[in-house]
Amino acid sequence: MDKTILVNKNNYIKDSYLKKITLIETKDVGEHVVFIEKETYQAYLNLKDFIKDKLNIEIGIDSAYRSFEKQQEIYDDFLIKYGKSYTEKVVALPKTSEHHTGLAIDISIKKNNKFLNENKDLEKEEETFKKIHKYLYNFGFILRYPKNKENITGYQYEPWHIRYVGKIVAKIIYDNNLTLEEYLTNFSGVLLVNKEKGMTSFDVVHKVSHLLGIKKVGHTGTLDPIASGVLVLTIGRATKLGEVLTATNKEYIAQVEIGKYTDTLDTTGIIIKEKQSHKKIDLESLIKSYQKTYLQELPIYSAVKVNGKKLYEYARNNEKVKLPKKEVTIKEIELLKTNDNSFSFRCLVSKGTYIRSLIRDMGQSIDEYFCMSDLIRTKQGKFSLKDAYSLDEIESNKFHILSLKEVLQDYPTIIVDDKLKKKIINGRPIKNIYNIKDKVLFEDKNHKLLAIYQKDNTNLKIYKMLIQQMNYN
Ligand code: DAL
Ligand code: ZN
Repeated sequence: MDKTILVNKNNYIKDSYLKKITLIETKDVGEHVVFIEKETYQAYLNLKDFIKDKLNIEIGIDSAYRSFEKQQEIYDDFLIKYGKSYTEKVVALPKTSEHHTGLAIDISIKKNNKFLNENKDLEKEEETFKKIHKYLYNFGFILRYPKNKENITGYQYEPWHIRYVGKIVAKIIYDNNLTLEEYLTNFSGVLLVNKEKGMTSFDVVHKVSHLLGIKKVGHTGTLDPIASGVLVLTIGRATKLGEVLTATNKEYIAQVEIGKYTDTLDTTGIIIKEKQSHKKIDLESLIKSYQKTYLQELPIYSAVKVNGKKLYEYARNNEKVKLPKKEVTIKEIELLKTNDNSFSFRCLVSKGTYIRSLIRDMGQSIDEYFCMSDLIRTKQGKFSLKDAYSLDEIESNKFHILSLKEVLQDYPTIIVDDKLKKKIINGRPIKNIYNIKDKVLFEDKNHKLLAIYQKDNTNLKIYKMLIQQMNYN
């Protein structure tokens, strides 16, 4: 069941979705039978108990799942009673109502021993509803048609209509004061994940995309399955900022095994050569000698392309290829621990440095076989592992998504007037009167992010558009 399905005036419910819902039958408010989606019902019961205990308010389900016929009946009834203009603002046409999903509930409130279910009576209970709204997200619900968002949702404020989206999404929507439309089309930010060993970076992206119900999730700077540590995930428009975020240094703690040489340069690979070292290695000076800029040969097991083909594809097909070299800088490096046949070190390196290759090079330079046995990324640019969340923490809703604003707060920024803003949001080139040497972020007077521009001769041209042209269809 897709909890973040969007059903509104422009997004009809699909038959394939209807086939997959499991409905529960209940008589929550006494006399009439209601149907509701299974997980939604459980979440609702928890909410109902909590509201009773905490606020001493009794709530009931007036309506949840509705068939197309039922929706038509309600629509026609309103049409006769109130006319077209009002009906369009409060009742959805069949196929466009999220009541078809079973995830939406119209809450009824018990007053003087009677459950209220007429809009006009419920509207008088606004203060009571407001008290309830504050706790909805803890149970995975959102207020679906909030005040002052009518132009986005297409419906008038409905204090009684709540929608189950799950706890993770409900909290983000509540914290950021969004509607489901805004969340699904416009929400963006950066999430720092502490990737565990064994997973690919793509596994993490896939998992988070599923948890958030957002398709546009990416990552910067791949971490191999053998590695753990900080992986920067970009959500929504932040996926455009991949390059801006990754063109930075990275810090790692690496573990090395002495005496083995493998095809992948780490202990996950096949051993090609092996020998026990008998000489005393001065690791301290070896490590220090690598604090330098040098030409590093790329590992064959990497996704770098040569003649349109990835290097690891050459390896798999047993084809010969000349491995390219790339200039890398090891800015800081220090020995941490040594054991009989292993040691660990910390290093801060430029973008594109392969630690597996660095380890191989160290071994080669003293005629020994070294291979990487563990790798932890402790920093990616300004993002530290200590600020990253494990997938378990994310699943238990203990995480914070950094906004684009937070991520770009130390980026060189210029605030522009309305005239220039217009040019920028149309992506037009502007004169480089600011003497920008590389890139610059433009914000409007209200500090709204507009775009990143880059130098182009005497002009500045668009690099990344950051403002979202609102279109919730
Ligand atoms: N009242 C909401 C919009 C519905 O009819 O689905
Ligand atoms: Zn409703």
